[in-house]
Amino acid sequence: MKDTPVRPKNKFLIFGSPAIEEAEIKEVVASMRSGWLGTGPKVAHFEEDFRAYKGARYAVAVNSCTAALHLSMLAASLKQGDEVITTAMTFCATVNAIIHAGATPVLADIDPVTMNIDPEQMEAKITSKTRAILPFHFAGRACNMDAITKIAKKYNLQVIEDCAHAIETEYRGKKAGIFGDFGCFSFYVTKNIVTGEGGMILTRNAEDAARIKTLALHGMSRDAWKRFSDEGYKHYLVTECGFKYNMMDLQAAIGIHQLKRVEQYWKRRQQIWQKYNKAFSNLPIALPAEPEPGTRHAYHLYNILIDKEKYGINRDAFLNAMTAHHIGVGVHYLSIPEHPYYQETFGWQPEDYPNAMRIGRQTVSLPLSAKLTDEDVQDVIKAVVKIGANK
Ligand SMILES: Cc1ncc(COP(=O)(O)O)c(C=O)c1O
Repeated sequence: MKDTPVRPKNKFLIFGSPAIEEAEIKEVVASMRSGWLGTGPKVAHFEEDFRAYKGARYAVAVNSCTAALHLSMLAASLKQGDEVITTAMTFCATVNAIIHAGATPVLADIDPVTMNIDPEQMEAKITSKTRAILPFHFAGRACNMDAITKIAKKYNLQVIEDCAHAIETEYRGKKAGIFGDFGCFSFYVTKNIVTGEGGMILTRNAEDAARIKTLALHGMSRDAWKRFSDEGYKHYLVTECGFKYNMMDLQAAIGIHQLKRVEQYWKRRQQIWQKYNKAFSNLPIALPAEPEPGTRHAYHLYNILIDKEKYGINRDAFLNAMTAHHIGVGVHYLSIPEHPYYQETFGWQPEDYPNAMRIGRQTVSLPLSAKLTDEDVQDVIKAVVKIGANK
């Protein structure tokens, strides 16, 4: 490489590094000193705070969004052979959860501008076996929930929202995750608020919430933390074959304080997003579309498209060049049909989902954490501009 790196090697900018502050550090230490590490009062506190933030009826915390998706699918009572339609542009966990629940995933292509599932393509995939649809709010941009809700009503389908990127997302004044029967959230380390690993399920139905809670802890009829409380020993009874998906108090200790800063972090990411938009407006790269009117974007990812024809180098060379400048970047995502497992199992081919295929081969996510300093943001900008000038 001709250039000296924008950042020194020992200051590598880690993609998606979370902002962790003193309050959560103290809370974790307090949990450790108390000896109560597992599921307990802090999880209940975090569930209640998150439920209130989203204006949902019920919230159940689990140890990942993958677990949240899996349990939602089970609570939706899907059977072997039932089809669930989702997007070709998502993380593998979305599709894997459908498979783990015993149902059959069906993909629909995306809208090339919003990168969200295209409702027309979704409707075209409906068969007599379709039981549910699983929209994913890509990068925190709200899906077209009017169209999706209409389709769900017309064909009597359950809606499970993948809100892994969409904590702050709104569509026509309503928060993402409460449109459908279930809304699934992630607090993985790169997400808008974090608990290390962690997830949450929102639902409007008390029975579904209770079943999810049971399934998240082996199918046992009582919460473990109540079993060992000072109210006296209570036997648990296994009422179905569940999983070990419960969130720990140690994780909730982080989440409680992160959630208090959700709006502050959102504003910072919006600011960075706007700085990138301004700095890159004259470069021959495609920038994210403006948020649609009447929606609130969660600004989880800032992804640019690198088209070799226009920019002179291809996406993978760009990724390497950013890394050589000691700036971490991401790819969200190679389209689902690019992966061998799905090709071999379902016969999916990338060419059958042309929008997701093209975007998956051109997309690069730039750092967008609330932790970034103005200097970090300037380094990212400098690196992108330099790579464009030196190709
Ligand atoms: C779209 C999407 N769905 C689901 C998940 C799974 O989340 P988790 O890592 O919390 O299981 C992710 C995580 O990156 C994601 O991006």
